[in-house]
Amino acid sequence: MSNTIDHLLDEDRRFPPSADFAANANGTAELYERAKADREGFWADQARELLHWHTPFTQVLDWSNPPFAKWFDDGELSVAYNCLDRHVEAGNGDRVAILFEGEPGDERRITYAELTTEVKKAANALQSLGIGHGDRVAIYLPMIPEAAIAMLACARIGAIHSVVFGGFSADSLRSRVDDAAARLVVTADGGYRKGKVSPLKPAVDQALADRGTGAQETVEHVLVVRRGGNDIEWTEGRDLWWHEALDAASDEHEATPFPAENPLYILYTSGTTGKPKGVVHSSGGYLTQAAFTNKYSLDIHPESDVFWCTADIGWVTGHTYVVYGPLALGATQVMYEGTPETPHPGRWWEIIQKYGVTILYTAPTAIRSFMKQGRQIPQQFDLSSLRLLGSVGEPINPEAWIWYRDVIGSGRTPIVDTWWQTETGATMVAPMPGVTDAKPGSAQVPLPGILVDVVDEQGATVDNGNGGLLVVTAPWPSMLRGVWGDPERFKETYWAKFAAQGYYFAGDGARKDEDGEIWLLGRVDDVMNVSGHRLSTTEIESALVAHESVAEAAVVGATDETTGKAVVAFVIVKESYLAAHSPEGLAGDLRGWVSGQIGPIARPRDIYIVSELPKTRSGKIMRRLLRDVADGHEVGDTTTLADTAVMSVISAQVK
Ligand code: WTA
Repeated sequence: MSNTIDHLLDEDRRFPPSADFAANANGTAELYERAKADREGFWADQARELLHWHTPFTQVLDWSNPPFAKWFDDGELSVAYNCLDRHVEAGNGDRVAILFEGEPGDERRITYAELTTEVKKAANALQSLGIGHGDRVAIYLPMIPEAAIAMLACARIGAIHSVVFGGFSADSLRSRVDDAAARLVVTADGGYRKGKVSPLKPAVDQALADRGTGAQETVEHVLVVRRGGNDIEWTEGRDLWWHEALDAASDEHEATPFPAENPLYILYTSGTTGKPKGVVHSSGGYLTQAAFTNKYSLDIHPESDVFWCTADIGWVTGHTYVVYGPLALGATQVMYEGTPETPHPGRWWEIIQKYGVTILYTAPTAIRSFMKQGRQIPQQFDLSSLRLLGSVGEPINPEAWIWYRDVIGSGRTPIVDTWWQTETGATMVAPMPGVTDAKPGSAQVPLPGILVDVVDEQGATVDNGNGGLLVVTAPWPSMLRGVWGDPERFKETYWAKFAAQGYYFAGDGARKDEDGEIWLLGRVDDVMNVSGHRLSTTEIESALVAHESVAEAAVVGATDETTGKAVVAFVIVKESYLAAHSPEGLAGDLRGWVSGQIGPIARPRDIYIVSELPKTRSGKIMRRLLRDVADGHEVGDTTTLADTAVMSVISAQVK
């Protein structure tokens, strides 16, 4: 048996950028040449060109104590000044920074001058509560401008923010507050979701309620943004209204520069096992790569674009491509509070039409759910302002890619499929939209200045055409600097597997095609071994989604006496097909289809037609739970699912 992952699905469609797009794009082929000639010099140039340094750096990369990297170590900068004041000083104070659309339809247009003033007041308010350099602040808010303001206020005073996704429970909040020993929690009385106010403050109260857990001891204050207008419990002395604190604060605040390696934030990410890891990011290197990727890969032209990244600020995508990247560039962006289907299924397309969005950056899970509803919904809106589309979070199946380009992008917009992780801080592998001929389903090439490879279990490079493990072979500016409070876990999780080579192991499978370009194959834990062949769940799912009847698919390896693992597929069928076909007939068709597309080795042993798939709150399919069902086991821990009821529905459908 080989160490590599077998690759069986062929996709040979190619989409070069239009001449017009290429002529106006920020990114050119020359960037790759420059980075290749002198990688560290290239990043130093980016850091100087894209950011303002209060104290210029003289050192670029310090890798004397791997895996603990330092970038631009003797330089000093203010992340907040870079995202705010400098745009105002440059005469762009009247430019809109945030076009906020609340779920009920309320609007706020916040200029760079206004955003700067708000952040100054918030910084003063935090300081008057005794928060300062190095203190941790937990932020538990809906998608409202105050989320960005709170993050930037922390950055301005050197406090470390830890944003906790507003959909997480009181327990998740408590464990994160405890782990970071946060002194302050910023929350809201509620936020709008699916037409209702969903409360947040009660979860904070619950998280802080039990004495002896740690939370009660460290948290001194809770700042509450008024959004939902709910009646909430109030703890005198501890709880304060955000608006009262800001009203009382001065709007003068000088941005203090901090060393480049000053920690900017902690963001918890759940591993496959154990408690969430607090991924730590620092300032100068992180902001450099955030701005760089936003400018070149997502091609933002701040003077003319309206950017919309649909991620919640609770995820890293919301940190890098809602807050730090677009604001560092001085761009205008849309921020939307609610869910895509409220009050009608065309809400996103209506927002694009209303604000003239030019660049849309979203996740495959959203695209597939729009596919399921059908193209007649987006086609009711004018989407002609769009000129570039981005995808992140999971492999995007070629069929979904083509649908995204044809239906949302009118068959003309380039698509950038961006591979990265909470740990990498910013995009690592993605086409350059004005340069690269796009391949549907592939993240394609490392960005200039980024070195990645696909290797076998021993760390040897696989040949073109083969699959293996994705590694990053050299430090990069926005890399995680560690796991909060646990350097051993940092080394063990990411660096131990290829310690001899000094590679960062991402946990993802990938293959190189004949051109040496990269196709992501899903988390390595999801790869299955069928009769000695290592098959990727992603490829079989892509083949299933390419069938006209299938809206979504999840594939797992179930234990099988003869083959080791057997392919088991869970499939959501489009509504129009369900009525006209029997489930048995459809399952038979799909088995034959996968055989034909990939080969008999990938033919699913079982196909279950289901109405939902288990997903995390950020939209990733939890295959581990489906494996339990396929193996007939008790279903494991479902607490991180967006909808915990879905597993009982699936188990019932399978029976
Ligand atoms: C997956 C999100 C394929 C991958 C920014 C990675 C992707 C994990 C892609 C990180 C992509 C993200 N193609 N897979 N374009 N982007 N992934 O930390 O498995 O929420 O390791 O960061 O998502 O997820 P995270």
